[in-house]
Amino acid sequence: MVAEKKLYKTSLINNRRYLGNKYKLLPFITKVVSEECSDIKSVADIFAGTGAVSSAFKDKTIITNDLMYSNYICNFAWFGSQEYSPQTIIDCIIKYNSISKYEDNYMTENFANTYFSYNDCSKIGFIREDIEQNYLDGNINERERAILITSLLYAMDKIAKTCGHYDAYRKGADFDASLELFVPLAEAHNNAENECFNKDANELVKEIYADLVYIDPPYNSRQYCDAYHLLENVARWEKPDVFGVAKKMNRDKMKSKYCTQSATEAFEDLIKNINAKYILFSYNNMATKGNGRSNAKIADEDIMRILQSKGTVKVFSENYKAFSAGKSNIVDNAERLFLCTCFSEEQ
Ligand SMILES: C[S@@+](CC[C@H](N)C(=O)[O-])C[C@H]1O[C@@H](n2cnc3c(N)ncnc32)[C@H](O)[C@@H]1O
Repeated sequence: MVAEKKLYKTSLINNRRYLGNKYKLLPFITKVVSEECSDIKSVADIFAGTGAVSSAFKDKTIITNDLMYSNYICNFAWFGSQEYSPQTIIDCIIKYNSISKYEDNYMTENFANTYFSYNDCSKIGFIREDIEQNYLDGNINERERAILITSLLYAMDKIAKTCGHYDAYRKGADFDASLELFVPLAEAHNNAENECFNKDANELVKEIYADLVYIDPPYNSRQYCDAYHLLENVARWEKPDVFGVAKKMNRDKMKSKYCTQSATEAFEDLIKNINAKYILFSYNNMATKGNGRSNAKIADEDIMRILQSKGTVKVFSENYKAFSAGKSNIVDNAERLFLCTCFSEEQ
């Protein structure tokens, strides 16, 4: 018997590249939580990025949040409480992968033969427009829209000819692979209490409660909106003007305080306003090691002072490959988890 050839491929939450993504650290994170935090029913992942950490807590109520809309979209695709039709997603993806007519659009006009070939830019522009039109026409719901955009962002990221991330494209690169969308294997029935946000974490914590709040902010001066401007541009689909060699849009409203000299102040304000039983904070120890751009923005003394004003603190560490923006020789460094068991309200 000849096996039926599948008309599409599938993808999982970790099938993408993302700076500081904690997928490989999940065994360490879940071990600390299961051994140290009792009676946890809800987890808020308030700097969620790819949502990798939330994916380890699917048996709990999950709150995700990220300042970047592209991450909100992916998190809503993976964890959103709205139900969706997997068949609708499969049908759209098969249709998108069979496109063979290439026309000019926002993507070809601004990005042809930079990060992607002319043909792939044409496909990306067509697909993104079609998703939006289908949503506006009521043919797909909000979750289906998010899952299709997620599939497009993952597909773009797989073939983009980038230097580092989207800081620059590789001039004269061979466009050897072409765009192919995969079907994200997102649960059709997530916990009905799950919520996904696209806010500044400092504002969000004033409005939510979770038994465990997980905090994983940027460590250094590298802004995520700079590294991922093109994915953010396609997710938002506001078709802004783009500038410079890297073809970035205006990102003034997307900058994170955690990448600046005000990081400690922002962290102090964040911790003060958190309403939780436990706070789990990921921060590595690059403070005095790597080159300038990689240096951590919040000093260990400040972390301890701020967390100890909120509860009892324990620190756990594990060796982990360091991220360095330039040519420093750090091979591995300790990835730390600070666990704060919060003082109860009465204290
Ligand atoms: C280290 S990454 C998180 C990685 C994530 N834990 C994962 O496993 O993919 C930090 C994230 O914080 C987000 N971010 C930066 N400043 C923020 C803020 N003020 N509020 C919410 N999110 C923010 C960035 O967009 C980025 O996705």
